[in-house]
Amino acid sequence: MQKLDPSAPPNAPHFAVQLSATRRGARLARLLTERQLDDWGVPSGEAVQVVAELAANAVLHGRVPGRDFRLALRLLPGGVLRVEVTDARGDRVPRAHAPVTEGAEGAEDGRGLVIVAAYADRWGVDAGPAPTKTVWAELSPGRGRT
Ligand SMILES: Nc1ncnc2c1ncn2[C@@H]1O[C@H](COP(=O)(O)OP(=O)(O)OP(=O)(O)O)[C@@H](O)[C@H]1O
Ligand SMILES: [Mg+2]
Repeated sequence: MQKLDPSAPPNAPHFAVQLSATRRGARLARLLTERQLDDWGVPSGEAVQVVAELAANAVLHGRVPGRDFRLALRLLPGGVLRVEVTDARGDRVPRAHAPVTEGAEGAEDGRGLVIVAAYADRWGVDAGPAPTKTVWAELSPGRGRT
């Protein structure tokens, strides 16, 4: 069973969608997030950027041909927005707390998780259920979700 965040009550406002692991799927993740947050009356700017980076990573690094990825949004008590992106590559996991260093290839790569870490109060990776993993981030209402 997938671990549920204990701080997420079962009746918390919740949105989930399964999307193809393609650029189009990643784009839809952004657009659907924008629409859902508008529906909830939640400012969406930084949250949409977090979704964009996590969805891009699911499509680029977490892709298994023929397998979808899943986006979930939850509004937690106190207005915290929890974003979850689940992909099919449980065997490849970004390191949640290691600083992202500039690789030999240059400064172009490795910015996505820096952006996530900057906008989120906390973020991390949950393993399973096999063969999946979920990269999640929580954004507090007070911290620049404008
Ligand atoms: N969903 C994922 N599955 C597997 N590995 C991942 C995933 N997300 C990130 N990673 C690993 O963590 C690294 C850092 O991710 P990050 O998004 O910061 O950079 P990037 O995707 O390489 O480049 P950029 O996001 O700047 O285009 C990736 O290069 C990849 O190795
Ligand atoms: Mg990335």
